[in-house]
Amino acid sequence: MERQRVVRRSTNDWRVTACRAICVIAAVLLGHAASSDGPPAATAPTTDRVGFPKDYRTRFKVLGVIVKEQALRVSTVYGNELAATVTSRDKLPYPEGSIILVEFTDALRDANNQPVRDANGTLQRGAVDHIDVMKRGKDFGEAYGANRTGEWEYAGYRLDGSYTTPPEKSGQCAACHRTAGPENDFVFRMKAAPARM
Ligand code: HEC
Repeated sequence: MERQRVVRRSTNDWRVTACRAICVIAAVLLGHAASSDGPPAATAPTTDRVGFPKDYRTRFKVLGVIVKEQALRVSTVYGNELAATVTSRDKLPYPEGSIILVEFTDALRDANNQPVRDANGTLQRGAVDHIDVMKRGKDFGEAYGANRTGEWEYAGYRLDGSYTTPPEKSGQCAACHRTAGPENDFVFRMKAAPARM
């Protein structure tokens, strides 16, 4: 009788230990679930509120062209109508719903792989590599935490809509655009814009 009791007790102890281990694992898993559901701690948005701007070439306005002669690359900056209304710094901040993007292309090449130039000797844009997009919206940007750049959120896409930079990785975009400064609404091209028109 005495021996049986001892055996039973040690079996119970093993179960208690196993249960404790499972409880610890469960607590860790629940902790993760809670942190991805709840607000703080995140450094980037987990959902895409930017959206691939299909047909930007026909729907958006060209705001500027940046030719990188040495790299043989041509970047074209586009904005939707709302973004295009901001032509000087006194019109900042950009209105909610503004979308600005940079289209990155390699310079156009001819059949001999030589860069094609227009009458002014300027490089022409070739195939699109990807577009980097920023969109301003109500309460956007909170998820970037210390890297927040006003109400902008960022993402990068190929022309088929797949990501080059998904929202979760867009913290790097915000971190660098902070350096454009709040006085420019974190938009680099506004640094060169007239203060007032
Ligand atoms: C290391 C710094 C840096 C990082 C990282 C960066 N950018 Fe920029 N971005 C710039 C600079 C500088 C310009 C101005 C144009 C130029 O010089 O090419 C610019 C221009 C832009 C513009 C045109 C509006 C403007 O600010 O002039 C958009 C849109 C943009 N970036 C989106 C993005 C997105 C989306 C990402 C992340 C995928 C990103 N950027 C990451 C530095 C950065």
